[in-house]
Amino acid sequence: MASLRACFTVILMILISSSLSQAHPGNFFDWGEGGGSTGEYFGLFPEFYQYACPQVNDIVMSVLEKAIAEEARLAASLLRLHFHDCFVQGCDASILLDDSEDIASEKNSNPNKNSVRGFEVIDEIKAKLEEACPQTVSCADILALVARGSTVLSGGPSWELPLGRRDSKTASLTVSNRDIPPPNATLENLITLFKQQGLDEVDLVALSGGHTIGVARCVTFRQRLYNQNGNDQPDETLERSFYYGLTSICPKSGGDNNISPLDFTSPAKFDNTYFKLILWGKGLLNSDEVLLTGNGFNTMDLVRSYAEDEELFFNQFAKSMVKMGNISPLIGYNGDVRKDCRRVN
Ligand code: HEM
Ligand SMILES: *[C@@H]1O[C@H](CO)[C@@H](O)[C@H](O)[C@H]1NC(C)=O
Repeated sequence: MASLRACFTVILMILISSSLSQAHPGNFFDWGEGGGSTGEYFGLFPEFYQYACPQVNDIVMSVLEKAIAEEARLAASLLRLHFHDCFVQGCDASILLDDSEDIASEKNSNPNKNSVRGFEVIDEIKAKLEEACPQTVSCADILALVARGSTVLSGGPSWELPLGRRDSKTASLTVSNRDIPPPNATLENLITLFKQQGLDEVDLVALSGGHTIGVARCVTFRQRLYNQNGNDQPDETLERSFYYGLTSICPKSGGDNNISPLDFTSPAKFDNTYFKLILWGKGLLNSDEVLLTGNGFNTMDLVRSYAEDEELFFNQFAKSMVKMGNISPLIGYNGDVRKDCRRVN
């Protein structure tokens, strides 16, 4: 009888401690993850859902697999969502909030409008997770898991993913307009906007490699075709035949939403051809090509290295994704675990 009671007490203690660690993760653990010199990794760790929702990644992957099998581009769209989330008030799922009385949705910002997509997949994952582990897995962590899963399912690298982000109660349309780099950015612009997030030139080049999958609309690369420098001339770094091909997809006026692959040789495969294309003057966006041609920084050497060595690129992409995923997470008592990713609780 005594041993039964002892056993019961132990079980009770485990239950209490696991529910406490769920509610106040930041106070229970301080596992500074390796690699973070700036302390951004505080509070996030890969085993965060080990007890509260051990099947979280399996659920994410099963929904993802089905969605991506139906439409390969969704992998690209979903990878991009995590980036656009993290650059605006940190990785807090602010991008998922719809317009409401209190929220001016980031979905309407210049970089996002008529562009960001994949929200239905996030909704489906969230619904399944709410069934399996109610009010446990944050939407911000779902975005991070989905970004990794999309990379893996497209043939790219995997990585150990720190978890435990919580969801914002706010969004910022203003910051979304200000801090997400535009496609016609100069190399200096890009470096500044990444530095602002604690990301360096190595991160910039490696993460731009995300453009090995997915597409862009005519309106994002038209300037390069017709008026690169305000002189009615095309960008001279564009390879000739590539340029002519693009003009047939993207006329001088109209056709704003016509699309072209970011890596036309293998738009659904996560590989290093993106960097090879840049070397050949066949990078689609100005922000892609300037990594090679922009002056005064060492990004050119990085583009060459990644074009030559896919493993080097994969390893750095994985590291930089973890770093990006650790931008200002909400932890501990901050934020919420939203029940519906589109709305605050
Ligand atoms: C370096 C600065 C970056 C700029 C200027 C930039 C800009 C763009 C633009 C303009 C598009 C096309 C959007 C449209 O036409 O609707 C795009 C698509 C995309 N971006 Fe970036 N991006 C950058 C960095 C990144 C990063 C860091 C990632 C992820 C690691 C990423 C992943 C993607 C993906 C996967 C797509 C294709 C999305 C789809 O097909 O739905 N980008 N980006
Ligand atoms: C980029 O495009 C925007 C909008 O079309 C324009 O206002 C801006 O001047 C362009 N920037 C550069 C560096 O060309």
